[in-house]
Amino acid sequence: MDFRALPKIELHAHLSGSISRECLHEIWLQKKERGETSLEDPLVEMPAGKFDYDLDTFFPLFSRYIYALCNDLTSLIYTTNSVLEDFQADGVVYLELRTTPRAIPSANITKDDYVQTVLDCISNFNASSSMKTNLILSIDRRNDVPTALQVVDLAIKFRDHGVVGVDLCGDPAVGDVSIFQPAFAKAKQKNLKITIHFAEAPQSSTAKELWTLLSYNPGRIGHVIHVPDDVKEEIIRRKLGLELCLSCNVHAKMITGTYSDHHFGWWRETGCPIALSTDDVGVFGSTLSNEYALIAEHFNLDRKEICDLARGAIDTIFESEDEKQRLREIVWK
Ligand code: IMP
Ligand code: ZN
Repeated sequence: MDFRALPKIELHAHLSGSISRECLHEIWLQKKERGETSLEDPLVEMPAGKFDYDLDTFFPLFSRYIYALCNDLTSLIYTTNSVLEDFQADGVVYLELRTTPRAIPSANITKDDYVQTVLDCISNFNASSSMKTNLILSIDRRNDVPTALQVVDLAIKFRDHGVVGVDLCGDPAVGDVSIFQPAFAKAKQKNLKITIHFAEAPQSSTAKELWTLLSYNPGRIGHVIHVPDDVKEEIIRRKLGLELCLSCNVHAKMITGTYSDHHFGWWRETGCPIALSTDDVGVFGSTLSNEYALIAEHFNLDRKEICDLARGAIDTIFESEDEKQRLREIVWK
């Protein structure tokens, strides 16, 4: 089944992980022509059809390669616009894009400039398209406390310009999440929404870590894989929104087995709103419409059940009742 025409809500997409290989290749060609890069061609670095990035190879792909290639204002604008176009072309009608504020000293770009630039692209796109996009700023698990607080301060500064919340992401093998308490407390106090990468890998799924993360009062949580029973009960009691990323979890071997073994099958019975999401479509190669197709195929959902699933994500967006109403009128019954 082809779900490109189905109006969809995407709530878990990392900007730099959503850049297509073709777009990265175009950036590379432009830089190559100007003699500005000695990096390998993205189509060689990330060959077509290669999606088997695991937690050991995935994070270095950004720090070693994608950030080194997308390292100036031109590439930031070009890639952001390309990502927005790709989501719209796939039938996304509401997008919450997330990104980690990144200073690029070699190009004189501060974190403030970075966020401002992404927001300018989004607001231009919002003005000329039927897809609405908001931005979430990510704290990386590698961050220290001042850096995390800086992310929250940027989110507060730009909250009237399209920033709706704060995320916690990054390598699940790294960091002590309890240090971020002041950052999430400040975000909450300023009425920013919170989403958190949650129980993504066994190392980041101790009872201590998960209860600490729940104490930050997230409105949504992402991945939600290795969850003990008492934590599951609490998630259901709070009816937290769940951002579930099928292809990413299968390709990165974050779950045992394949699509039909995905924990979507377990969570769908619980009454928590579910937002099927792509995570990093540029790396794992599966568009949101393809994620819906995979769910329909492997969990035997008919057309009505797929439409209900797509509509269910509306309840958990970080936006006003008016926007939810607009979406309820667009997403098929
Ligand atoms: P950016 O924040 O726009 O630069 O997007 C890329 C970044 O998102 C990566 O460097 C990671 O820190 C983060 N990221 C992307 N996918 C995942 C994931 O599945 N788990 C945790 N962090 C992720
Ligand atoms: Zn993610």
